[in-house]
Amino acid sequence: MTDLPQQRARHVAIIMDGNGRWAKRHHLPRAMGHQKGVEAVRRLVRALESTGLECLTLYAFSSENWKRPEEEIRDLMGLMRRFIKSDLPEFVENGVRLKIIGDYTALDADIVEMLEDALARTAGGGRTLAVALNYGSQQEIARAAAEAAAGGEVTTETIAAHLDTADLPPLDLLIRTSGEHRLSNFLLWQSAYAEFWFTEELWPDFTPEHLSQALDDFARRERRYGGR
Ligand code: IPE
Ligand code: IPE
Ligand code: MG
Repeated sequence: MTDLPQQRARHVAIIMDGNGRWAKRHHLPRAMGHQKGVEAVRRLVRALESTGLECLTLYAFSSENWKRPEEEIRDLMGLMRRFIKSDLPEFVENGVRLKIIGDYTALDADIVEMLEDALARTAGGGRTLAVALNYGSQQEIARAAAEAAAGGEVTTETIAAHLDTADLPPLDLLIRTSGEHRLSNFLLWQSAYAEFWFTEELWPDFTPEHLSQALDDFARRERRYGGR
C-alpha cells in the first residue's frame, strides 16, 4: 500500500450539499444555511493556492434547483450578487480565474452582467474556480452532442470538445458533502474515471482541512482506467 506512487490532483469538483439541514440543526432559517455555505466557499477559495489544484469546480445551483420555492431562489440569487461584489477584488488580487459552467445567461440580467464583468476581470488568473450555475449535466451532454453532430462527426472526443468543461483538466476527484451518495445531474460525463469522496459534514461545516484530507486520500488511490 505504502509503495504506491503518490499522485496529485489537478481538478476537484464539489457537490456542496447540506445547507438546509445545517440551518435546521441550528434552529435557523434556511437562508442562514446558505449564507454559511457562502462562507465555506470563501474559505476554500482563499486556500486554493495552497492546495496546488489547477481547478476547483463547485456545484452552486442546478438546473433542477428552479423547483425550489421562489423565496429560497431569491435568497440564493441575493447571496450570489453579494458574493461577487464582495469577493471579486480578492479573486483578481489572488490570481483566481473565474469560469462558469451551465447556462448562466438564464439568470437575472443584472447577475449575468456581474458575472460577465467578473469573467473578464479574472481572465488572466492562474488557478480556475469553475462555478456551476443553472447547470445540468444531461442538458450539457445533449447540447454538446448536437453541436458535435452539426460539426460533422459524433465521437467521444468531439462531444468532450463541446462540453462546458472542454478547457479544464480532466476531473480527478468528486466530493459530495452531507452524507448523500448521488450525482444529482452533475458532471456525469466528466466523472467517468473520477475518484469519489463522501463526507457526512454538512457544507457550511466544510473547511480547507477537509479538502486536504480528501486530497491525501486521493493521493493513495490506485486508478486503473480499465487496464491492469
Ligand atoms: C445545498 O444545500 C445548496 C443548494 C442546493 C443550492 P441544500 O439547500 O440542498 O441543503 P439540504 O440538502 O436541503 O440540507
Ligand atoms: C445538488 O444538490 C445541487 C447543488 C449542490 C447545487 P441538491 O440538494 O439540489 O440535490 P438533490 O435534490 O438532493 O439530489
Ligand atoms: Mg440538498
